[in-house]
Amino acid sequence: MSGVNDIRSAFLQFFAKNGHEAVASSPLVPRNDPTLMFTNAGMVQFKNVFTGLESRPYSRAATSQKCVRAGGKHNDLDNVGYTARHHTFFEMLGNFSFGDYFKEHAIELAWNLLTKEFRLPQEKLLVTVYHDDDDAASLWKRIAGLSDDRIIRIATSDNFWQMGDTGPCGPCSEIFYDHGEGIYGGPPGSPEEDGDRFIEIWNLVFMQFEQIEPGNRVPLPRPSIDTGMGLERVAAVLQGVHDNYDIDLFRTLIRASEELIGVDAVGERRASHRVIADHLRATAFLIADGVLPSNEGRGYVLRRIMRRAMRHARLLGAREPILYRLLPTLVGEMGRAYPELARAEALISETLKLEEKRFLQTLDRGLSLLADATEGMDAGAKLSGETAFKLYDTYGFPLDLTQDALRQRGIEVDTQGFNAAMERQKAEARASWAGSGEAASDTIWFGIRERAGATEFLGYDTEQAEGAVLAIVRDGVEVDTAQTGEEVALVLNQTPFYAESGGQLGDTGTMRGDGVVVTITDTQKAADGLFIHKGRVAEGTLRKGAALELSVDHTRRSRIRANHSATHLLHEGLREVLGSHVAQKGSMVSPERLRFDFSHPKPIEAGELAEVERLANGIIRQNAAVETRLMAVDDAIASGAMALFGEKYGDEVRVVSMGMAEEGEKAGRSYSVELCGGTHVRATGDIGLVHVLSESAVGAGVRRIEALTGDAARAYFLEQEARVRRMAAALKVGPAEVADRLDAIVEERRRLERELADARRKLALAGPAGGGDAGAKTVNGVSFLGRVLDGVPGKDLKGMVDEAMAGLSSGVVAYAGVAEGKASVVVAVSKDLTGRFDAVQLVRAASGAIGGKGGGGRPDMAQAGGPDGDKAAEAIATVEKALA
Ligand code: ALA
Repeated sequence: MSGVNDIRSAFLQFFAKNGHEAVASSPLVPRNDPTLMFTNAGMVQFKNVFTGLESRPYSRAATSQKCVRAGGKHNDLDNVGYTARHHTFFEMLGNFSFGDYFKEHAIELAWNLLTKEFRLPQEKLLVTVYHDDDDAASLWKRIAGLSDDRIIRIATSDNFWQMGDTGPCGPCSEIFYDHGEGIYGGPPGSPEEDGDRFIEIWNLVFMQFEQIEPGNRVPLPRPSIDTGMGLERVAAVLQGVHDNYDIDLFRTLIRASEELIGVDAVGERRASHRVIADHLRATAFLIADGVLPSNEGRGYVLRRIMRRAMRHARLLGAREPILYRLLPTLVGEMGRAYPELARAEALISETLKLEEKRFLQTLDRGLSLLADATEGMDAGAKLSGETAFKLYDTYGFPLDLTQDALRQRGIEVDTQGFNAAMERQKAEARASWAGSGEAASDTIWFGIRERAGATEFLGYDTEQAEGAVLAIVRDGVEVDTAQTGEEVALVLNQTPFYAESGGQLGDTGTMRGDGVVVTITDTQKAADGLFIHKGRVAEGTLRKGAALELSVDHTRRSRIRANHSATHLLHEGLREVLGSHVAQKGSMVSPERLRFDFSHPKPIEAGELAEVERLANGIIRQNAAVETRLMAVDDAIASGAMALFGEKYGDEVRVVSMGMAEEGEKAGRSYSVELCGGTHVRATGDIGLVHVLSESAVGAGVRRIEALTGDAARAYFLEQEARVRRMAAALKVGPAEVADRLDAIVEERRRLERELADARRKLALAGPAGGGDAGAKTVNGVSFLGRVLDGVPGKDLKGMVDEAMAGLSSGVVAYAGVAEGKASVVVAVSKDLTGRFDAVQLVRAASGAIGGKGGGGRPDMAQAGGPDGDKAAEAIATVEKALA
């Protein structure tokens, strides 16, 4: 008997043999359809291939597709556990023809696989066709040899398949397996059809139309084929069991939970074990595909699934988190077929543990409140909406969990009352933000937030996705359309665009749809979870409700990623080199460069900076995978992750780890571990290189470094190199000798300056007045030596005055130097005369003559300067006059 893994492989091999490309399952979060919550069928990833929007290098494909049917059009959550065939997560085997073969070959392939490959007895099979599909009916008769009574015509939507409200669709033909007389039930279309005897195993859809909107259906470019066979169902048939939960895969999972909890899956407990096994699969695969538990959208569906499983574990008596302990069994069973599951095992495990820990804290109190509230109630009674809302709001019980808990007792929940209570709470929140004094331009976002919910961010996993336009704001007012050239701010249901936060700039890029192109120049956050895309309509008319293809500017985002990851590495390097007092004070991550501000009391020495850079580049060369995990804030901080003091974090945080410490006390452990919501490189090698450009002060005790990575760092080095080459050429030496040559030139220049000053002095003193006291005259009984020295700058004057004074035993010296049109005057008074004359007063008098503003010094030596070099002689004359 074949196990699930063998059946999956056999299916894909059969179709590969028949000219089909075996294509990997697409993620559970659809990338190409903003209207779908989860991938719910194999054809989802091929939607645009059917409609002709996209082309692929093959026209036949086969997949084993991960599907989730919980939330949205196909929702099976409520039934899981209580029936033989409902799942939230399942695998759909499918073969597809994109305008290649049609009905005939599809029927032939299906019949051959079932009867020849899988060897199912022909007499156990029967089929349905859409009531007016004579074609399909006669093909079944001819190819499979089925008698008319085993080709059943059905007129209802059961035999017309639609993906959702829009998308490709067409009539279908379903293949049923008869589990035999021992089981109650009748063939499809009979009054007993809801019984369990005749089970649909394979749906062949003859894709012929596209539903554009309700009431508007157009033909596809070419008739195509889409089929879907539930792997779990066909495995049940092939393994001779009647219940999907009895196949090998589920038996293994259920056995693991039986052993772990110590309670057998019998009687009432069977449902709980099934819920756990099913929900564990949905949870693990959703987390592996980037969904994390939250209070809205996909994250909330995941949370509901997780909490429903947790309540059932509690029902079985588990007091501690157990779901994460079942994960290795699941990975063992399915990790080979879906490597993403094994890759994400750590993230799934921690997310499960965290959610279980948190929910278990309130679960018991919630359950006892529920028990009190329903005491004495009989089947058919209703729990008040208020109580259900309190359970939701205070104890984290999703509505369906409360309903599930009361199901066995036949008690219902007043859902209208629940919704009314929810509405009341929203109204209160609205009143509080309306009165909070936010600018009108901000309150518009609160209104949209309430109506549209938080924007789902897809940008950790992808840079391209489709999104539906939920709001267009122009000039601060919500509008329904915007025309070419208009500036707009857009809100979409989901987006790969990162909104500026944590220092990382918002993404830019393009959005395209039916004839419309919007250029996005910035993305910002508003109103607690709304992403605002700012840009301009470059082409066409943008309409509210439009589905747009969203593409983030890849090059820019890659540079931002590299700069952001490098910031983490530098941060850790600074702590290692300077000490653990280094704490982030701010940062700015742009595509061009990164800036990082941190606490440190003094300038960083060049050697320290070089060491920080060396450490960071060492981790870059490790090319280690960058890992992101979701943790409770307290656990994250306790585990040593760096967090920003005073920063507001949610209950759960992303923790980004990079590289392996090779030196120091952390050797062998993660090098950098930080709480961070930003986007990062996949492996440190993607950073390429980091170079710190500068170090400066930005305030008391806060330093700033700026750095470049990758191409920008390389461009910087090339520019530096070109500069050195230019210098080398000018100096006529090799690049390696430039520095020595420059030192020599600077030294030579200093010597020449000294020599020049000397020569000037000699030349000046050799002037008409002669040297020493030869030129001194006696004024008012005092020796006075006054000269104008052409070409002597002020800085050389004092030395010359000192020299002259040394030659006079007593007297006054006044020299005026003239250089570059300006004059300087230095006056010296010998000590014995300072009682009679004050050098400062004398120099001030001289300063007036040369247009100066005074001057200063001591009573025996003072200096002044002024712009009028040609008045130097007058300045000396002024001093002489002052002596008289
Ligand atoms: N898309 C079809 C289904 O989901 C095959 O049943």
